[in-house]
Amino acid sequence: MKDYSIKDQIYCYENTLILKNKLNIKNKEELEIVETKITSFKIAELQKREFKEYNLNFLFFKNLHKFIFEDLFEWAGKIRIIDISKDSFKFAHHIYIEKEASKLFNQLKKENYLKNIKKEDLIKKISHYITEINVLHPFREGNGRTIREYFRILLQNLDYKINFNIKNKQKYIEAMIESPYDQKNLIKFLKENIKKLEEK
Ligand SMILES: Nc1ncnc2c1ncn2[C@@H]1O[C@H](COP(=O)(O)OP(=O)(O)OP(=O)(O)O)[C@@H](O)[C@H]1O
Ligand SMILES: [Mg+2]
Repeated sequence: MKDYSIKDQIYCYENTLILKNKLNIKNKEELEIVETKITSFKIAELQKREFKEYNLNFLFFKNLHKFIFEDLFEWAGKIRIIDISKDSFKFAHHIYIEKEASKLFNQLKKENYLKNIKKEDLIKKISHYITEINVLHPFREGNGRTIREYFRILLQNLDYKINFNIKNKQKYIEAMIESPYDQKNLIKFLKENIKKLEEK
């Protein structure tokens, strides 16, 4: 995935695009390899677990990011304090994230984390929430992985399985890039890749 093209004094080593990290790696390729290794391991750990008894609120979402990234970044689990963009898309101004994300997760809670609704409506709701959370892009890095894990868990709690495997990741990213303007391809992607567990 293309990186955020911003040099910032807060998150990056001076005059580089390399994120300050706990391992003090200052080489971009090396950091990428180590980051992929560590986060893949953490995500595999999450995928062995059940979260049926958990409240999937904003704190849970932040804790997911913390769990996946805490060996790499000091700010794991904390929302960003600068503004970022990808390609030409500017994500939410950082001062709005806390308030707007709290609203979204409260709404999800009000909707009982999407329990007991039919699949067609579930897919539309998931598309809406994924799009909105992505537009906020709460963290300096790692939003894609955290959002995917969060919705994988939410769906797992409803006895659904979502397939974000390597083969269809590109399709997902393209649908995400389009989603702030048009959710049609995201809805299509979700329809094709969400299955009730016993359907197989
Ligand atoms: N141009 C764009 N406009 C809107 N959303 C985008 C754009 N490009 C990428 N995205 C979304 O941002 C996510 C990447 O965000 P980020 O780099 O913070 O997370 P990541 O976990 O490192 O990435 P990845 O999803 O590639 O594993 C993608 O998964 C996609 O959903
Ligand atoms: Mg990234």
